[in-house]
Amino acid sequence: MRIRKAVLPVAGLGTRILPATKVVPKELLPLVDKPTLQYIVEEAVEAGIEEIIFVTSHSKHAIEDHFDRFSELEQTLERKGKKKELAAVRRPQELAKFMAVRQSEPLGLGHAILCAREAVGNEPFAVLLGDEITPCLPKMLEVFEKYQTSVLALFQTPREQISSYGIASVEEKEPYVYQVKDLVEKPSIEEAPSDLAVAGRYIVTPDIFPILERTKPGRGGEIQFTDALLEQAHQGKCYGIHYTGSRLDMGTPLGLLTTSIELGLQHPEIGPALREYIKDVLQRQR
Ligand code: G1P
Repeated sequence: MRIRKAVLPVAGLGTRILPATKVVPKELLPLVDKPTLQYIVEEAVEAGIEEIIFVTSHSKHAIEDHFDRFSELEQTLERKGKKKELAAVRRPQELAKFMAVRQSEPLGLGHAILCAREAVGNEPFAVLLGDEITPCLPKMLEVFEKYQTSVLALFQTPREQISSYGIASVEEKEPYVYQVKDLVEKPSIEEAPSDLAVAGRYIVTPDIFPILERTKPGRGGEIQFTDALLEQAHQGKCYGIHYTGSRLDMGTPLGLLTTSIELGLQHPEIGPALREYIKDVLQRQR
């Protein structure tokens, strides 16, 4: 079965980057010249996703607006002959079909996914978390096609960061492809079953919904997505890929800055000037 839909939970309060996120949703903070969320939607679309389901909350209207038409602005740019700007303004809404559902209470990531149940229906779907750029869906889709189970993206994390992630223990099935045996949400170093962390990219089979419905609050008193995936793992229905590519996390002030620098250096127009600037700054600091 093809994966056509992706759920993007964007209801969080973004408390790690206050006060920047007091009014502007974290997912709309710019990275060079686009909001973070646009990179993530583009990542999904490049992997073949056609329909994006945002799980939003109070005061996050701007997210829907960014992926909708803004005819007044379009008309103004058209009248002035600003073709490049017009194309940039139109691009977000042309990427996919968009819809939004609400998560009215902050009850956790598992609960946010459950809010998308009706919009997803009875088909497998992708989940992309909004504070990281981790282009690993194509490999995950290959594994899904073969095993027809949920698929996680796992990456090796330094010991001191273990307690920030879901951590998996696995059995290798083929090179870089694992069957997930155990999952613990944000364990201490002592509790952690390994150093393989769950990245914010998931392929999920729809039997996750009845599981989420009966999942009790876990770590932090929240309904954890990880706990529902653990139930699938116990049924032998959760696989993972070992991802070794780039993973840009913009969910903290330092991460926001380093992600901007990485993307700025890759940018065809501003990359060379940014490189010169960085060299210059480093020299001046010596
Ligand atoms: C969530 C998940 C966690 C995962 C992480 C990836 O945590 O609950 O299992 O490892 O995303 O970024 P959050 O970062 O939303 O607290």
